[in-house]
Amino acid sequence: MDVYGLIGNPVGHSLSPPMHEAGYDALGIDARYVTFEPEDAGEAIDAAAALDLAGLNVTIPFKRAVLDHVEPDATAERVGAVNTVDFAGERPTGHNTDVAGVRRSFAHHDVDLEGATAVQIGAGGAGRAIAFALADAGATVHVANRTALKAHDLAADVPGADGHELDDVPKLLADADVLANATSVGMEEDASPVPADALHGDLVVFDAVYSPLETTLLGDADAVGARTIDGGWMLLFQGVAAFERWTGEDAPVDAMNAALRSRLE
Ligand code: ATR
Repeated sequence: MDVYGLIGNPVGHSLSPPMHEAGYDALGIDARYVTFEPEDAGEAIDAAAALDLAGLNVTIPFKRAVLDHVEPDATAERVGAVNTVDFAGERPTGHNTDVAGVRRSFAHHDVDLEGATAVQIGAGGAGRAIAFALADAGATVHVANRTALKAHDLAADVPGADGHELDDVPKLLADADVLANATSVGMEEDASPVPADALHGDLVVFDAVYSPLETTLLGDADAVGARTIDGGWMLLFQGVAAFERWTGEDAPVDAMNAALRSRLE
């Protein structure tokens, strides 16, 4: 039996175990997926290697610290964070499937980002992955953040991007094709990072928040006729990309999605 894991703190309510195990079950793979709350990222990687774990996901607060204990690929290096460790080679390698998760979320909804103008709100950990994904897919990204300095810092790393303060968002949205929320605003609360009257029907609105699935932002977007991509998709497709890296198989996306959605509201 193969053992996969997740390190982070807290991880008690993580939906990754049921999502990945639904994938193993659908493909008849004899494997389990377990969660750990270690003290130290480096010790956890060493322990996972010593115990011959098949793969490890990494979440808050270890995504950055793990970089120093694995061989990061180019994407993980650019984003500055690892969420997936592969133990197949001589040394553990580090990957960032959040980036692929964003790209595949848009592709799954038939949204072509090539030449699109995107407004992204938020410049934290999730925001870095989302900005690189949008830019890699061919979008021009305007990053806005409550702390404007962080928006400028992130934009400086992302090809073609620029940084803004939140007050610029309504004006930027008037000419935009895509709005991405990479803040935590809307998580377990009835609040939106964007005034509802700044939204319009030609937007595709992507929210990284998945609890609840229908955030205030997505409700407002729906009301003006915009298309929406909820946070369950990024969560699903980052897991799908990790699953495919580890197993070498096409992930059973529908089974993994069903396992996830049955546990989200
Ligand atoms: P994550 O890893 O989930 O991205 P993070 O790195 O703490 O978490 O980033 C949280 C993001 O949400 C940041 O962009 C933060 O803005 P600041 O950089 O100004 O802190 C944003 N955020 C959190 N609460 C917010 C609020 N009430 N209004 C606007 N932005 C908020």
